Amino acid sequence: MSNSMWGGRFSEGPAAIMEEINASIGFDQKLYRQDIAGSKAHAAMLARQGIIAADDAEKIAAGLDAILREIEAGTFKFSRALEDIHLNIESRLKELIGDAAGRLHTARSRNDQVATDFKLWVRDTIDAVDAALRNLQSALADKAFEHAGQVMPGFTHLQSAQPVTFGHHMLAYVEMIGRDRGRFQDARKRLNENPLGAAALAGTSFPIDRFQTAQALGFDRPTANSLDSVSDRDFVIEALAAASLCAIHLSRFAEEIVIWSSAQFRFIKLSDKFTTGSSIMPQKRNPDAAELVRAKTGRIIGAQTALQIVMKGLPLAYQKDMQEDKEQAFDAFESLELAIAATTGMVLDMEPESATLKKAAGSGFATATDLADWLVRELNMPFRDAHHVTGRIVAIASERGVDLTKVTLDEMQAVHPAITDAVYSVLTVDKSVRSRTSYGGTSPKNVRAQAKRWQRALAREAKA
Ligand code: ARG
Repeated sequence: MSNSMWGGRFSEGPAAIMEEINASIGFDQKLYRQDIAGSKAHAAMLARQGIIAADDAEKIAAGLDAILREIEAGTFKFSRALEDIHLNIESRLKELIGDAAGRLHTARSRNDQVATDFKLWVRDTIDAVDAALRNLQSALADKAFEHAGQVMPGFTHLQSAQPVTFGHHMLAYVEMIGRDRGRFQDARKRLNENPLGAAALAGTSFPIDRFQTAQALGFDRPTANSLDSVSDRDFVIEALAAASLCAIHLSRFAEEIVIWSSAQFRFIKLSDKFTTGSSIMPQKRNPDAAELVRAKTGRIIGAQTALQIVMKGLPLAYQKDMQEDKEQAFDAFESLELAIAATTGMVLDMEPESATLKKAAGSGFATATDLADWLVRELNMPFRDAHHVTGRIVAIASERGVDLTKVTLDEMQAVHPAITDAVYSVLTVDKSVRSRTSYGGTSPKNVRAQAKRWQRALAREAKA
């Protein structure tokens, strides 16, 4: 009889619900490749150490290869009764090769096995994310080079601040993503120690060689403490932290794309490839891809938070709670990879609206700082005084509803008699951006040089 309080969906009572909560095969089958690689490395090591016979190890390896083919062909039957990927594969191995299969689990446990599998998966995923981020950087650097001289408004508080160039804006994201990649690489370095051979928690009495399996699996060395080896999920949390920050960067860019493509801004054009129409409002072109990139951030940060909460109260060593490390991490990285691909697509697709950008760049008295700087440079005025004089000139322009280039010399001289008509040469947007030549500044020359530097570095990397 099923329980009268909660047994409605169950015909067999507690055993069924136990299986449902306990089984992870629904999601950890994603680890099949890593699980098979780990088992092959383990079996080969056991044979080399004389712990199992060489012909058993060969049978095991051949059986595991056959299972890999079955899974990739979609013919492998996953069973929930067998709980997880480890037991599913081991059970199939027994069907395929008989008793030798039982020797594979000598000197290991599912605890070190799952830690190994998941580390390998996170490592593979970091590598895939890194390659995708490199592509995104390339797309951005190319855009930056192409539009190094395209002026646009630079904002603070989303108010026109000073003119910048479109290329400069693109390169800001190249820098951010460069740091993201650095964080993933740091996480990868710390992750890359082999937990296999820690066994259940205490190590093993068999004469295993953990350096051999480390090498076979591309780890730098074995982990040094068996308890830590099976309890550590830092490696996922750290990778998720890097993913969260990367997602935040993509989200900020996505938000700019949403703003820029609105009818009120019209700073860029996105093609049909990355927009959708409205079923009722025929004029609309919605930046859905950007909106979804922005939204995916929630899941990614959520996965990091969720796993941190799972881990925070766990005593050493392995606890079943740790099975909850996988599902959200899978989802988070899938979301991140999709967000990176969509962002790359939008960068390739977007075209800056040159005339609109130029007009907007000059509005909002965006060259007021250039005027103040001119007063400092030419009239030797302290910057604070220059700021005040400029403020009064801006007030005149604002009152007359014109921009700074249209304030007459008489009007300016009424504010400060020493101003000459040379001042007009710094009030245009083009002059303004061209003058920003300080290292890291927005001048087209700087932007071209920085874009080139990135293009070269990225091309070198792609070749390596
Ligand atoms: N499916 C388990 C997990 O993902 C594998 C480890 C199980 N270990 C155990 N002692 N029950 O965490």
